[in-house]
Amino acid sequence: MASDDMAESEGARVLDSAFREALAHFASGVTIVAADSPSGPVGFTATGFTSVSLLPPLILVCIDKDASCHDAVIAADHFGVSILDVTQSSIALQFARSGIDRFSGVLIHEGGGGRAPLIRGAIAHLECRKRARYVEGDHTILVGEVLYAAAGSGRPLLHFDRRFGAFEFLS
Ligand SMILES: Cc1cc2nc3c(=O)[nH]c(=O)nc-3n(C[C@H](O)[C@H](O)[C@H](O)COP(=O)(O)O)c2cc1C
Repeated sequence: MASDDMAESEGARVLDSAFREALAHFASGVTIVAADSPSGPVGFTATGFTSVSLLPPLILVCIDKDASCHDAVIAADHFGVSILDVTQSSIALQFARSGIDRFSGVLIHEGGGGRAPLIRGAIAHLECRKRARYVEGDHTILVGEVLYAAAGSGRPLLHFDRRFGAFEFLS
């Protein structure tokens, strides 16, 4: 019995590291998810973002239930998603850092509908109305209905193998 337990927990550990490693090999864009709260703007760096539906226009973001801004983001009626430019890795790091004012020195985009903070200089912006949320494992999946979307020029910041990088078109 004891050895079965050990084998099981060893298996779980192996799966955990293989799972994390596999996820690290999924290259993704990098976003800042942000919302207004009674105590000021809140936000965090997120790669857990994806489109869900075109009609109606829906996206989702995944938020760690233990994240310091989880409750404030979930409580907000609206949230913004800024898809970062390749020049904005320092903003990605700042919005992932604990215990600091993440908005310090960060310029807010003045366009859009003013429903949620958007990061100036991002290559695309989305403003969303909170539509649904689902708790799955240690994250909350927040589904937003897109009320405003805009895309500019520029190249995206990418995240792959726990590092930031740049996108390059194949010839
Ligand atoms: C590249 C990158 C991607 C991240 N993606 C997510 C994500 O999709 N969801 C999430 O909840 N946290 C994500 N995080 C972590 C948060 O940005 C943040 O560090 C975390 O919420 C811890 O904040 P806290 O210490 O204030 O609780 C990511 C961090 C980095 C650097």
